[in-house]
Amino acid sequence: MAVNISIANEKGGVGKTTTAVNLAAGLALRLAERPGPAGRVLLVDMDPQGHALMAAAFGNPTADHGRSLSALLVESPPPSVQPMLQRSTHHPNLFVIPSQRADMVEAARALPGLMANETRLERALRPVQEEFAYIVIDTPPNTGDLLINSLVAADYVIIPVETSYLGVSGLIELQRTIDQVRMHFRPNLQILGYLPTLCEEQRIEVQEILQELRQRYPGKLLDPIHKSADLAYAHSSHMDVFTYRPPRNRRPDRIYSSSRPTQEYAALVDFVLETTQSVPRPV
Ligand SMILES: Nc1ncnc2c1ncn2[C@@H]1O[C@H](COP(=O)(O)OP(=O)(O)O)[C@@H](O)[C@H]1O
Ligand SMILES: [Mg+2]
Repeated sequence: MAVNISIANEKGGVGKTTTAVNLAAGLALRLAERPGPAGRVLLVDMDPQGHALMAAAFGNPTADHGRSLSALLVESPPPSVQPMLQRSTHHPNLFVIPSQRADMVEAARALPGLMANETRLERALRPVQEEFAYIVIDTPPNTGDLLINSLVAADYVIIPVETSYLGVSGLIELQRTIDQVRMHFRPNLQILGYLPTLCEEQRIEVQEILQELRQRYPGKLLDPIHKSADLAYAHSSHMDVFTYRPPRNRRPDRIYSSSRPTQEYAALVDFVLETTQSVPRPV
């Protein structure tokens, strides 16, 4: 049974997509030598706006109309998910479900009027739960049905937080949404951690913000991801950072290079591997 992890924050531009892409790629690299499903990772892009970035990092998954993520969300019964899976360009054991921006926008509009509109992603992913070790879900920057579907489908949430005062102040609505999802659908949904992103630690106010986050979320503050040009360059080069700045000799137990963000995202990958375990899901 796959471990399902959603990357969520109702704010945009806080590093959700960067974290989803690099976590998924890092997990794929670390698990590359495991046979079969134990070595496979699936990345699901639930952000209509995020598609360009996702496509960039994964070649260009082409979505046939009616055979993409949006069809999984709105059609009753949903089409089969297996034939949709596409292999990423850089990692043979990393897969994506293609999606199209316009169709996802349309799906977001249609969902509130549909039956079982909160549980559609969870249901659609059920047939492939045995085929992957991890399913990483990138989410949109708002609290609509696409986010709720992403949380209902998740065992764990990672919350990237931009280390600025504005970044910290916006987390209350997300917390409320997570509480609601726990109450109605997923009592075992766990916050894996708050991940400080775009961190510039030399700045005084960033130190203060990290301190505040540590107090607010004891034991839940993850090691920060610093601001790094390599992450931006990797993106514009259509790559995850492990592919963009590879080590001289790649081994499954050592996926990072001299580039700082590879070390920081590798640490997140290892934390996830150590911390997560399959949670039995209700039938
Ligand atoms: N740690 C970082 N250092 C430098 N640039 C980053 C970092 N994290 C994200 N970015 C850049 O910031 C922008 C927003 O990040 P993104 O992951 O798309 O956020 P979100 O998905 O939350 O909207 C992107 O252009 C991305 O390349
Ligand atoms: Mg995004």
